[in-house]
Amino acid sequence: MAAPHSSRSDAWWRDAVIYQVYPRSFADGDGDGTGDLAGVRARLPHLAELGVDAVWFTPWYASPMVDGGYDVADYRAIDPAFGTLDEAEKLIAEAAALGVRVIIDIVPNHVSDQHAWFRAALASKPGSPERERFHFRPGRGANGELPPNDWPSQFSGATWTRVPDGEWYLHLFTPEQPDLNWAHPDVRREHEEVLRFWFERGVAGVRIDSAALLVKDPALADFVEGVDPHPYIDQDDLHVIYRSWRAIADEYGAVFVGEVWLPDAERFARYLRPDELHTAFNFNFLTCPWEADRLRRTIDATLAEHAPVGAPATWVLCNHDVTRTVTRYGREDTGFDFAKKRFGTPTDLALGTRRARAAALLTLALPGSVYLYQGEELGLPEADIPPERIQDPMYFRSGGVDPGRDGCRVPLPWEAEAPSYGFGATSDPWLPQPPDWARRAVDRQRTEPESMLTLYREALRLRRSEPGLGDGALSWQPSEEGVLSFARAGGLLCVVNLSDRPAVLPRHERLLLASGPLDTDGALPRDTAVWLRA
Ligand code: NOJ
Repeated sequence: MAAPHSSRSDAWWRDAVIYQVYPRSFADGDGDGTGDLAGVRARLPHLAELGVDAVWFTPWYASPMVDGGYDVADYRAIDPAFGTLDEAEKLIAEAAALGVRVIIDIVPNHVSDQHAWFRAALASKPGSPERERFHFRPGRGANGELPPNDWPSQFSGATWTRVPDGEWYLHLFTPEQPDLNWAHPDVRREHEEVLRFWFERGVAGVRIDSAALLVKDPALADFVEGVDPHPYIDQDDLHVIYRSWRAIADEYGAVFVGEVWLPDAERFARYLRPDELHTAFNFNFLTCPWEADRLRRTIDATLAEHAPVGAPATWVLCNHDVTRTVTRYGREDTGFDFAKKRFGTPTDLALGTRRARAAALLTLALPGSVYLYQGEELGLPEADIPPERIQDPMYFRSGGVDPGRDGCRVPLPWEAEAPSYGFGATSDPWLPQPPDWARRAVDRQRTEPESMLTLYREALRLRRSEPGLGDGALSWQPSEEGVLSFARAGGLLCVVNLSDRPAVLPRHERLLLASGPLDTDGALPRDTAVWLRA
């Protein structure tokens, strides 16, 4: 008999498939054009049918939504546009009843400028205890008219804003997201309490936003390119914080996934030591172009960097911050880089979709856990948002050069014939949906054998039943140039053809799943992947 898959044990997170819900755009239960928890609860069967192990909700807390909820005003309240705490508790219980765990998002680097602490800080004097929870400083220059340092922003634009009494405060993102001072005991205590608050309500895990940015160089020294350590990225004291968080999570059997963007593999792996975070997002895979050599190198580097700390890798192709997979893979440059996002970049969606289907089988066959972003299972492309409807601060802060992230945040199509494709009762949701999305709706795709949804459902079903998939080892097999071929335990082979000609498949007993039709002679066409029983 096959060994039980770890997704049904305490180590479920080592090979879970985790579906990311962006609540504003998932499903709108009350018809006001904005997604909400009522909508999610009504659509939970979709997630259970898809076969995911957990759902990660981007922030659902009370927020002015300047940065899509990553500007949290109150961690213990659900935003009224989304619902109530009572509904969140019901949702967590209903998901659990369907075998789906809930992961929430905590944003420890900053709060909203409407958070009680920041309002108190603004209402208090320079030097007051209220201001010490943030980074308030006098300016430089003869009259303090220059910002306290030259730190680059995580979005474009300034990182310091001056308040009427002349002091400046630090914000690595927008001015509405003041950075917290992690050297302050209140900040640490509050976050520990917030973790407990949600663990007590049954959440199984926490995604940590901007996880490598919390701790700042105490001198707030200027940034000097190439000089380590960076004044606000990957400071050593972060590990003290995550060790204390880990102890709390362990009391509840909960897990962490860190949003850690760090090119240095050794520094990255430090966050995954056994007494720190369980997992972190693998952004090197997400940004990697659709090229066999580079993907193979990225996969090898990922596995090698995780091995010494015993942590499982994560595999992510897209999320609410990046260009949707089918659009990216149809472009000339198939990698992802925030700095290169521009309006009107041409794409071939048929090609991108073909590659995204192959990438789905590649990703789901790799050892570790996989993150799926809502709509990825429908093959949704990045939408063009008319500039007058854009809400993302990245667009505004770049002076309109960067199209921002709204194109991947468009409300989901559920029913081909309904208003807003069944997203909600309104025909005009908070972001406009493209006019040709009827064919991408869930109800159309459910019964279509060739649809992206059918491919994902079938792949997830096999992934659950095949003990060789998920956690464990991978061994590369000999293959033609441009072809990735690897074996997992139990005689399972994954072959992906990224070359420009058909590839001969290795000898096999059975074809388990293919991302597209094989050639009549049984060859694997380009941009196609298969799972085989050897
Ligand atoms: C990363 C989040 O994914 C992104 O959406 C957000 O804008 C920033 N962190 C700031 O919280």
